Amino acid sequence: MSDFETLSVSLGDRSYDMVSGPDVISNAGKLVAPVIDHEPVIVITDDNVSKHHLENFSASLQSAGISSTVITLPAGENTKGYDGFRNLVNAILDTGPERRSTLIALGGGVIGDITGFAASVILRGIHFIQVPTTLLAQVDSSVGGKTGINTRHGKNLVGSFYQPRLVLADTGVLDTLPRRELLAGYAEVAKYGLLGDKGFFEWLEKNGKAVIEGDMAIRQQAVMTSCRAKADIVSRDEKEAGDRALLNLGHTFGHALEAETGFSDRLLHGEAVAIGMMMAFDLSVQMGICPAEDATRVRTHLQSIGLPIQPTDVAGQAWQSTSLIGHMAQDKKVQNGKITFILTHGIGDAFITSDVDIDDVETMLDRAIAA
Ligand code: NAD
Ligand code: GLY
Repeated sequence: MSDFETLSVSLGDRSYDMVSGPDVISNAGKLVAPVIDHEPVIVITDDNVSKHHLENFSASLQSAGISSTVITLPAGENTKGYDGFRNLVNAILDTGPERRSTLIALGGGVIGDITGFAASVILRGIHFIQVPTTLLAQVDSSVGGKTGINTRHGKNLVGSFYQPRLVLADTGVLDTLPRRELLAGYAEVAKYGLLGDKGFFEWLEKNGKAVIEGDMAIRQQAVMTSCRAKADIVSRDEKEAGDRALLNLGHTFGHALEAETGFSDRLLHGEAVAIGMMMAFDLSVQMGICPAEDATRVRTHLQSIGLPIQPTDVAGQAWQSTSLIGHMAQDKKVQNGKITFILTHGIGDAFITSDVDIDDVETMLDRAIAA
């Protein structure tokens, strides 16, 4: 296990480790054994991930002498609704769990979010472990304890803050991830450089393509640097009373774009975040608080990686700034009717503000839509 790296998410008696490396899954049994109090563990996965990685994962549990039972859900965002949640909770209860039981989420953000939420409410709280298998889940959703499901009123509107006991991020499993999903996850990696670490962004300018092409050492460095940044913010502000909102760079705009495309495959979450981060930079430049060359640099990098950078990169969609602003006004982060924005003074220097003239937002959106 010498190629593995570990970092700690410091949250008092709820602190936990995040372990990353190229073959973590084959060693999962040994790694999870110290945090398991009761068997069988209940592995929750989806029908894509199970094809590629369940056998190896289950074998690793078995070789460590850990008994397991598996629940396989349909892949995709639709699973993360009330129906999917009810089915999952019933399937878990059918196995006769105890308070000391452990759920293991083996999958992307959909599996991690719904499993974490189930763990937080079953028997008023059982243990759970995250084994994220998408880049997005490895650098964002598996760390920090946000869990939840979607409702007809919007995404992630029902959920809880509930921390896992361990996160195992195997950088090798990303080799089976469709390239488009990998690129979408990369937007969240770039986010950490853009919001608070210019040095990391500069490193990504040199190494971003190697992250995508599968250089394991480089990929692991990108995952660990991202998670270190996230762990640091979450340790300071677990429940998003302040700084944690910086992690939403690009998300207020991105969420509006996703809503407008009906949260469909036409625009993945990470793709929307990439366009949204560009919008945050462009609005900041327009407001005179960010150098134009920084926005140009971000645009060049995201485009070179293969990410969309403007609404017109989404095929077959007509956009209207007023309806995008309408979606933003329904964001979870609206306070006293004011939209919270994450803007920037430059690469690595994001800040939170609700002091933004909505006419400026409309002007920026109109320019982006016409680009
Ligand atoms: P996902 O879980 O739907 O995974 C994307 C696709 O990749 C799915 O089809 C899945 O089956 C497949 N897949 C996963 N791993 C694979 C692998 N190794 N090889 C082959 N295929 C694989 O999507 P996602 O992008 O991981 O996560 C999106 C979800 O995460 C959204 O529901 C979003 O709301 C949530 N999210 C949560 C947080 C948080 O802090 N909790 C943060 C960001 C996003
Ligand atoms: N994905 C944003 C957060 O965890 O706060």
